[in-house]
Amino acid sequence: MLHDPNQVFIFDTTLRDGEQVPGCQLNTAQKIEIALALEDLGVDVIEAGFPISSPGDYQSVVQIAKHIKRPIVCALTRANKKDIEVAAEALKNAQRPRIHTGIGASDMHIKTKFNSTRAEILVRAVEAVKYAKRYVEDVEFYAEDAGRADIEFLTQMVEAVIAAGATVVNIPDTNGYCLPHQYGEKIKHLKTHVQNIDQAILSVHCHNDLGLATANAIAGLQHGARQVECTINGIGERAGNTAMEEVVMIIKTHQSLGLNCNIRSQGIYNLSKVISSEMNMPVQPNKAIIGGNAFSHSSGIHQDGYLKNRENYEIIKPEDVGYPAAAIVLTARSGRAALKHHLDRLGYVLEKNHLDNAYQNFLMLADQKQGINDFDLHQMMKAQRRA
Ligand code: KIV
Ligand code: ZN
Repeated sequence: MLHDPNQVFIFDTTLRDGEQVPGCQLNTAQKIEIALALEDLGVDVIEAGFPISSPGDYQSVVQIAKHIKRPIVCALTRANKKDIEVAAEALKNAQRPRIHTGIGASDMHIKTKFNSTRAEILVRAVEAVKYAKRYVEDVEFYAEDAGRADIEFLTQMVEAVIAAGATVVNIPDTNGYCLPHQYGEKIKHLKTHVQNIDQAILSVHCHNDLGLATANAIAGLQHGARQVECTINGIGERAGNTAMEEVVMIIKTHQSLGLNCNIRSQGIYNLSKVISSEMNMPVQPNKAIIGGNAFSHSSGIHQDGYLKNRENYEIIKPEDVGYPAAAIVLTARSGRAALKHHLDRLGYVLEKNHLDNAYQNFLMLADQKQGINDFDLHQMMKAQRRA
């Protein structure tokens, strides 16, 4: 099927790579609810689980496959027949099933994980794709630890699995090892050296061990990958995966990238909250896009500039990600403009000298407290009027 060459397919793996994090396990009912929310958000592919890993995961994939209508439902396997058979069975009722199979591509994985050779691994990779093709048309192959793999071998592997029928080839930086320019170069090399690359989509799957997951994923997209594997809130193995909310807002904010995606960004904040609470995984306050402080302005200089024109300090509108509202937070670092903004909002319209007094009282109070709320302001104004 022909598609817009600039469209980035959003592959969500919150329910697979995200859910394998200790403490984040969900039951089937919770997974169905989240899968439906992901469908509503507009994701293109939902990785529903790793069916052979446990009876619970198998059941979740079965149920998600039954409930989801539009997105592709994908199940993970290793490169062996049993895994593939179980995944195919779990996906039986999916409208658009995909099997995601693969094997290690780096010499480190080939030698110390599989005790094998490049030649043997290549045969296993091709056999796995061919076997999965017996069950479903749409087969994605992952070249695990591609971030550290020899580029010539990786090129050979990608070409071989596409020839065997892979529709998507995932180039995971499994250990979050690459620098953005290195990862981008890898994708560029594959785009230019794999003979049959026009027959498949390259996918990026970047881990965050060095805090570079999103930067690497974007570098991959800039060099021709057209699927990004990501999770809500960036959850995933160890330091996590590429955060979907970051990729989506980068694509929307930087139109010069020339990319687009199907995500309804206004639903991001709400879903982030759902995932965080269902998975018992708090979001750090300074997390990009969805953190508690992502749209709070606390220093006097920023508050003054923000109140004059919010674009001075806001490159994303909170409403574009469904964030309740930007906040001018009152702390000891706030200036008069911020205090006036809040006093006006509470109905205290003050002359300049009264505002000066109020500001001195506010600073004394703010030095004693972490943050000042509406109640504190009312108390402060009451005391000021009595004085
Ligand atoms: O990080 C990784 O390599 C993976 C694969 C199983 C796709 O999650
Ligand atoms: Zn992963």
